[in-house]
Amino acid sequence: MIAMKAVILVGGEGTRLRPLTCNIPKAVVPVLNRPFLEHLLRYLKRHGITDVILAMGYQPAPIQKCLGDGAQLGVRLTYSVEDSPLGTAGAVKLAASLIDDTFLVFNGDVLTDIDLTGMMQRHREIKPKMSIALTPVDNPTAYGVVETDAHGMVRRFVEKPPPDKVTTNMINAGIYILEPEVMEMIPPATRFMFEHNVFPQLLEKGAPVLAYPSQAYWVDIGTPQKYLQAHDDLLRETGTPINIEGGSTIDTKAQLTGPLLIGDGCTIAAGVSIKGPAVLGARCVIGKGATIEGSVLWDGVQIGEGVSVHQSIIGSCSRVCGQVEGSVLGDNVTVLKGLPPGSRVWPDGKVEAGVPLK
Ligand code: GDD
Ligand code: MG
Repeated sequence: MIAMKAVILVGGEGTRLRPLTCNIPKAVVPVLNRPFLEHLLRYLKRHGITDVILAMGYQPAPIQKCLGDGAQLGVRLTYSVEDSPLGTAGAVKLAASLIDDTFLVFNGDVLTDIDLTGMMQRHREIKPKMSIALTPVDNPTAYGVVETDAHGMVRRFVEKPPPDKVTTNMINAGIYILEPEVMEMIPPATRFMFEHNVFPQLLEKGAPVLAYPSQAYWVDIGTPQKYLQAHDDLLRETGTPINIEGGSTIDTKAQLTGPLLIGDGCTIAAGVSIKGPAVLGARCVIGKGATIEGSVLWDGVQIGEGVSVHQSIIGSCSRVCGQVEGSVLGDNVTVLKGLPPGSRVWPDGKVEAGVPLK
């Protein structure tokens, strides 16, 4: 059996993750201190998929810098870069010359354990024009809702329906298997979406679209809430309560409660309390008596003496000298006094009110 190629869509602007994505694209935001795509690529490799095309638009350079040719992860990466956003389907069309057989498409912000091997087998058995993985969620209005018939074929697709139009909690998990002829439906060099254009057109034509429903772990990391949730889930899954990546200075009078991940070269002073689930990036400095709980700190974050950071995400090299809770801070910001819960702080220092995380 020839291994399928995969296209990963990583051209979105990551708007909902701002201010975290002001300086880096969503595809490489750190998750457990590794660029997000690394997790996705390792998952693909576990299912035998090693030929991967990254369909990029917004900020391609940081992605290329992080991943290179993919050799370190044992995959072969090819980059396809849009001049202007072509939408999810337009982006795949741009890469058409690299594809000649049945292939996979992934949204580039999905962290999952859906059984891809099983999905590819099922696609080969049933031979539809397309297969789509489905996952149950609590709030389908934020996703593409997918109705299926008694034979497991897709009947209807509604992208981000209003609450009164939600007919099922099964949604598009952002994983598709496509036959190459589906590309003929996508106009070249035109903004075109799978969700709004290709799927409805396929169904209208009566083309068979197979659903692959799964109860496996699945989360779209595209909002701060979900980003934090993904960390909680991954940290709990590691099984080791306290993971220290190496070379940190941790005072004996600091209290660490797992699940925790502490990056390289951190300095943790006396009287500090870190309560998991929490992640410290590399070279974080935590001042005397500070408390960190349920939070993710990126590289080089400094937390002042006695300061508490709860249920928050702090961007790289930011300095926090006042209490933060349920907040999201971008890169390189300085917070000198406490912030109202739910604050968003932009790299230019602007503070906005937002919904507290958790
Ligand atoms: N190359 C490229 N070009 N990629 C794009 C473009 C584009 O113009 N627009 C979006 N993407 C990428 C994003 O970077 C992301 O990885 C993926 O396509 C999906 O875009 P999101 O913006 O994250 O979409 P969503 O989360 O609101 O909804 C999508 O995903 C849901 C599952 O998480 C839809 O596919 C829903 O139907 C689905 O349920
Ligand atoms: Mg998304």
